[in-house]
Amino acid sequence: MLHVGEEKNRRCLGKKARDGQPGSNLQKPAVLSPLPITKYRRSMATKGMNLCNVCCLLLYVVTAVLAGRDFYEILGVTKSATIRDIKKAYRKLALQLHPDRNQDDPKAQDKFADLGAAYEVLSDEEKRKQYDAYGEDGLKEGHHGSHNDIFSSFFGDFGFMFGGNRQQQDKNIPRGNDIILDLEVMLEEVYSGNFVEVVRNKPIAKEAPGKRKCNCRQEMRTTQLGPGRFQMTQEMVCDECPNVKLVNEERTLEVEIEQGVRDEMEYPFIGEGEPHVDGEPGDLRFRIKVLKHPVFERRGDDLYTNVTISLVEALVGFEMDIEHLDGHKVHIVRDKITKPGARMWKKGEGLPNFDNINIRGSLIITFDVEFPQTQLDEQQKDGIRSLLKQGSVQKVYNGLQGY
Ligand SMILES: *[C@@H]1O[C@H](CO)[C@@H](O)[C@H](O)[C@H]1NC(C)=O
Repeated sequence: MLHVGEEKNRRCLGKKARDGQPGSNLQKPAVLSPLPITKYRRSMATKGMNLCNVCCLLLYVVTAVLAGRDFYEILGVTKSATIRDIKKAYRKLALQLHPDRNQDDPKAQDKFADLGAAYEVLSDEEKRKQYDAYGEDGLKEGHHGSHNDIFSSFFGDFGFMFGGNRQQQDKNIPRGNDIILDLEVMLEEVYSGNFVEVVRNKPIAKEAPGKRKCNCRQEMRTTQLGPGRFQMTQEMVCDECPNVKLVNEERTLEVEIEQGVRDEMEYPFIGEGEPHVDGEPGDLRFRIKVLKHPVFERRGDDLYTNVTISLVEALVGFEMDIEHLDGHKVHIVRDKITKPGARMWKKGEGLPNFDNINIRGSLIITFDVEFPQTQLDEQQKDGIRSLLKQGSVQKVYNGLQGY
């Protein structure tokens, strides 16, 4: 049960209509921020310790303490980071810093809590504005959500198992079904990456009045009928459990479309699948379906496109820009003759590689030539003959076996 919100980036599953603009740009006005202390110290060492510098340092330390935590530093992003940068940084660090993964580090809980607080503030346009203007103190009135909710919106309720080896768990615990959903993504999103919010109405088991039978099993009963005579019967035995009803709860999931993601790749959200009254819910998996693009065709990490040029351009050369998937321009210059079917390779203008986004494929451009639509008169024909001075060729060959 999924539906779309009105906001951009919210995704309707299995429906195409969606207007572009991945990620919103949260450009901030200039912000007064204390210098990072390391930088400050370095400049002091070169100048020597005079009284003024010491005062400045003291003042800085005091303001830094009052100003609270540096959420940008915690997330490792710059002040001008977009919401996508912030989500990306959070998703990466949340996995690294989760206390379950850092059981030897006594500070793990604190670090993880800092990360949650940083994300909660910087991912919210209003709170981020307040924080930029007044620091963490400016936020104190705002209520604080739980970090668990944030974390599970990226990884699912049992996300701390890290896509965990569910198979290794107790086989006797019943599980709800897994749900696999196709998530249609545009080639633009594969190129630049994106986060998609999926709103899910998740059925959650809540306690209800009354009791119900549960954990039912067959048991053998032995009854003594007389001396030396026993009767064995099989009986269904159940426990009494509190009654349960399924209540729909709205939950926003953040699906990262990573750069270079391939068709059919899956993003699991652990425990977000179908619930089971007596056990655990199954998983929800988003399966990537890359939509066809009108201009670019994907082959691995390479992109293919076709360009039609005029006969005149084919002969005398031309210059043009191709608008790429993120809007940047790929400049093309030819001053040689371009034959129909000629190919041009632009290294590094393909898609980022999923495993290493610093490696990019190529853009391969194939040209075809549009001939003039109007017929030539005798004078024009003579003109072309004398201009090109190309003799007759008229070679006959079996083209299916190559040129
Ligand atoms: C477009 O380019 C592809 C790949 O190079 C090529 O195979 C195809 O024939 C071209 N299409 C047209 C209509 O020229």
